Amino acid sequence: MSVKNMVLEQLENNKGSYISGGQLAAALSVSRNSIWKAIKSLEKDGYLIEAIPNRGYCLAETNDILSAQSIAKHCRHSFEIEVYETISSTNTVLKEKAADGAPHGTVLVAKEQTSGRGRMGKDFYSPSNTGIYLSLLLRPDFPASEALFLTTAAAVATAKAIESVSDKKAEIKWVNDIYIDRKKVCGILTEASFNIETNHLDYAIVGIGINVCPPQSGFPKELETIAGTVFDTPADAENKQSVLIANLLNIFMDYYQDFQEKTYVREYIDRSFILGKQIDVLENNTRKEATALEIDRDCRLKVRFTDGTERWLNSGEVSTRFVD
Ligand code: BTN
Repeated sequence: MSVKNMVLEQLENNKGSYISGGQLAAALSVSRNSIWKAIKSLEKDGYLIEAIPNRGYCLAETNDILSAQSIAKHCRHSFEIEVYETISSTNTVLKEKAADGAPHGTVLVAKEQTSGRGRMGKDFYSPSNTGIYLSLLLRPDFPASEALFLTTAAAVATAKAIESVSDKKAEIKWVNDIYIDRKKVCGILTEASFNIETNHLDYAIVGIGINVCPPQSGFPKELETIAGTVFDTPADAENKQSVLIANLLNIFMDYYQDFQEKTYVREYIDRSFILGKQIDVLENNTRKEATALEIDRDCRLKVRFTDGTERWLNSGEVSTRFVD
């Protein structure tokens, strides 16, 4: 880690209180001059650092810059976090890193994506500074057939993390969309590399996109009636994003470590708002009306079509549209 990042870590961990240049230099085993240079460079990046002779440096509480350090200080599990101002797609870049041997627990977070990807080959609208776009790399040691549960566990973890920083109720639309007040605020795209010899996954990438607050120029026309945000204004979101990301990662990893127990499934079902409702099932470019009946322990959705036939749906093969 660079001296600058180590200094930032120390300041983030002591946000709001003073830490002297001498203390920093001793803790990081570097010269006071290197500390001073790092402070200047952080200030250039926009960090508000108060400096008082004989007391030292203090990162002001008002600083709200998303960084690996601002996220890591709230994490209970170990992650390798990288934060990007802009990126093509966190999933795409993390795939390349996974192929190059990046470790389990690598997390890419971006403030903007220029080629964000959604399910079924769709684009994912990822404007700058009003959303969180993140991908988590996992190297699971369970069979590939269990991979679906990464998505459903991520949906529950995201819903709970959203509720931990806002006063909104986050619900799940089968299979992996998070809704607030009947508007989609988050989508999840899980991609995996399957090892045919071991029947296990080489790796899986869980990609999560959250609309944090309304984009400066609003959502594009085609999303206007569908998309919502966790917060109503940027002011409401202040100092919340790092905690939101860390809580999401923490809760997901709790589930992941206890995977066989599937403790999140009950919560997934309880948060699913389409049960008993009319939905459209889109399959192979055809749309069929149905009623959502029940979700089982494997997170499959049972539907009844208008002709009375009933079927269990697996994720991946269909997409559902909630009909008001
Ligand atoms: C969907 O709603 O269809 C899924 C959207 C998933 C978007 C996230 S944002 C972070 C990660 N990187 C991507 O390109 N996609 C996922």
